Amino acid sequence: MSETGRLPGAVTVRDDAAGVAAAAADWIVEIAGAAIAEGGRFRIALAGGSTPRTLYQVLAAAPHRERTDWGRWEVLFGDERACPPDDPASNCRMAREALLDLVPIRPELIHRMEAERADLDTAAAEYSSILASTCPPASPGSPPRLDCALLGLGENGHTASLFPGDPALQVRDRWAVRSRADYAPFDRITVTYPVLNAAAHVAFLVAGPAKREALRGVVDGRVPAAGVRPPDGELRWFLDAAAAGSN
Ligand code: 6PG
Repeated sequence: MSETGRLPGAVTVRDDAAGVAAAAADWIVEIAGAAIAEGGRFRIALAGGSTPRTLYQVLAAAPHRERTDWGRWEVLFGDERACPPDDPASNCRMAREALLDLVPIRPELIHRMEAERADLDTAAAEYSSILASTCPPASPGSPPRLDCALLGLGENGHTASLFPGDPALQVRDRWAVRSRADYAPFDRITVTYPVLNAAAHVAFLVAGPAKREALRGVVDGRVPAAGVRPPDGELRWFLDAAAAGSN
């Protein structure tokens, strides 16, 4: 896809999803080390999806597992489906199985979205408070600043649980809100654009030919993922050759 070079931010292309995961894992270990050296903590928001899952498995295994100070990681989530945390659809369950239960991250530094609750608005408001209390803003009154936000890209161009046409796309005064997908499971909690755009580092992990149209939508500014443009942060795209259209 010739548009790959027009994506906002730096683009890394690898042969396949495993290569994408390895490149992203190298990058995360590096930025985690820098954040820990500077502030003693690495605050990362995790994504759902199969490409991020492969990344988590790489991070949890040698050699990456030994290359970071897990006790300094503070883990948040970019979105969650409305289901119990042990449900197979839960992003948190996936992250636990692929990473969090396999490395010595301190349990009290893992902040999941309680999207199993009947009142998703209240659960989202409470997650806004968790973001605000765990991620110091760059300046007073600014949104919480994550060290790293990991994101997937849906075929329809959604990212986190920011779906085309959803009112959550317009939110500027809250850090997490309920949202609605255009496929099941429909009900979600998602972080909002202000949080993603305040992050120090943002990475999209994208694999497979089905994502080419969504990437064109990012270039054209037509899809929700195009709204992620951190003005004071690094934006990275980790693509496999099929998504990039270079195979
Ligand atoms: C969801 C999915 C979704 C996913 C993207 C990319 O909650 O609906 O988790 O947001 O992240 O569709 O998924 P893949 O990485 O599996 O392509």
